[in-house]
Amino acid sequence: MKVLVTGHKGYIGAHLVPLLKAKGYFVIGNDVDLFEGCEWEPLTPPDLEWKKDLRQITEEDLRGIDCVMHLAAISNDPMGDLNPQITYDINRDGSIQLAKLSKKAGVSRFLFSSSCSIYGKSDKPYMTESDPTIPLTAYAISKIETEKAVSAMADEHFSPAFLRNATAYGHSTMLRIDLVVNNLLACAVARGDIRIMSDGSPWRPLVHCKDIARAFVAFLEAPRAAIHNQIVNIGGNQENFQVRDVGNLVQKFVPTANIVYTGEVGADSRDYKVSFDYLNQLLPHFQLEYTLEKGMQELFFKYKEHGFSQHDFESDQFVRLRTLKKRLSRVENPI
Ligand SMILES: NC(=O)c1ccc[n+]([C@@H]2O[C@H](COP(=O)([O-])OP(=O)(O)OC[C@H]3O[C@@H](n4cnc5c(N)ncnc54)[C@H](O)[C@@H]3O)[C@@H](O)[C@H]2O)c1
Repeated sequence: MKVLVTGHKGYIGAHLVPLLKAKGYFVIGNDVDLFEGCEWEPLTPPDLEWKKDLRQITEEDLRGIDCVMHLAAISNDPMGDLNPQITYDINRDGSIQLAKLSKKAGVSRFLFSSSCSIYGKSDKPYMTESDPTIPLTAYAISKIETEKAVSAMADEHFSPAFLRNATAYGHSTMLRIDLVVNNLLACAVARGDIRIMSDGSPWRPLVHCKDIARAFVAFLEAPRAAIHNQIVNIGGNQENFQVRDVGNLVQKFVPTANIVYTGEVGADSRDYKVSFDYLNQLLPHFQLEYTLEKGMQELFFKYKEHGFSQHDFESDQFVRLRTLKKRLSRVENPI
C-alpha cells in the first residue's frame, strides 16, 4: 500500500515516516524543505522522496497512491500572522487543490492535519467536534475553511478525515522549541529560568508529537466506515493543562529554575479545553503512549544528552518563525 506524507520533514512527519515504514507501507514523502539544515538528529528517509511545493503536485503524481496524509503547512499561529496570505495560499488553497487532485487520481483516503487552535477562546468546560469554532488567527481560519471545503468532496470513493490535533510537544528528530512545553523546558535547561509569557492561566490541550503520528496510522488502518468524513480531536481528556501547570512540571525536572511570569499578552489569546471522547468512541483501541510527564522526561534527557545550550535556545534552528522570517526577507521566491 502506498502512502504519501506531505510535510514529512517536519516535527510530526519525522515520526510518521518511520512508523509507517516499520509497518511495511511504501512511503512517499513530499516536502519543500523550508527548514533544511534544522534537523536535530538524523531523519529516517521515506522510500521515495519528492522536494516540491505542495501546490506543484499533479494528478499524475498522485495516481496509484492509496492514502494521502497531508501535514505540510505553515504550521502555527504566529507564522500565519507574519504573512496571512501565504498561510491562506498554502494551508487552505493548496490543501483544497491537493484534495481535489487526490480525488481525481483515485486516492481513497485523505487525512488532513487540522488543529484544536480553531476552538480559539472558550469558557465551555470542554470543546467537542460539534461545537461552534472561534478561529482567532489566519492559521486557524485556514484550517477550518479547508475542513469545510474538503468535507464537501466526500463520496463513496473518497474518504477524507480531519484530525484536529492538540498542541504538540516532545522529542522529535526535527525538534521545535516554539511549542509551549518544549519551549519552557528548553528555557529551564538552557537559561535556568522558566519564562511564561502570560499569567499562566490559559488552558491548552497537549499531545505528544509521536502520538499524533500514531493517530494518523490508526486512521489509515481503521475501517473506512469509522473514519469516513469524520472530524476528530486528537489528544486525551487528562491532557488539558493550564500553562502554569506546565511550568510547575518543568520545575520538577529543573528544580533550580525559577518561574517568571512576564505577563506579555500577545495577539494570541487562545484559551480552551477539549474533549477527546469522540476519538475514544471511534477508535477504542487507540491509546496515547505518552502523558505530559513521560514526554517531558524523555525530552529532558534528550536536552541533557545534546548539551542543549543558551546558544541553541536563541538560534534559528528550532524556531520555525525565525527561519521563515529569514526566507521571507529573500528577494525572489521566498516560499
Ligand atoms: N505541532 C503542532 O503543535 C501541531 C498541532 C496541530 C496541528 N498541527 C499541524 O500538523 C502539521 C505538521 O506540523 P509540524 O509541527 O510537523 O510542522 P513543521 O513546521 O515542523 O513541518 C511542516 C513541514 O511542511 C513543509 N511545508 C510547508 N509548506 C510547504 C509547501 N508549500 N509545500 C511542501 N512542503 C511544505 C515544511 O518544509 C515542513 O517540513 C501542520 O499541518 C500543522 O498545522 C501541528
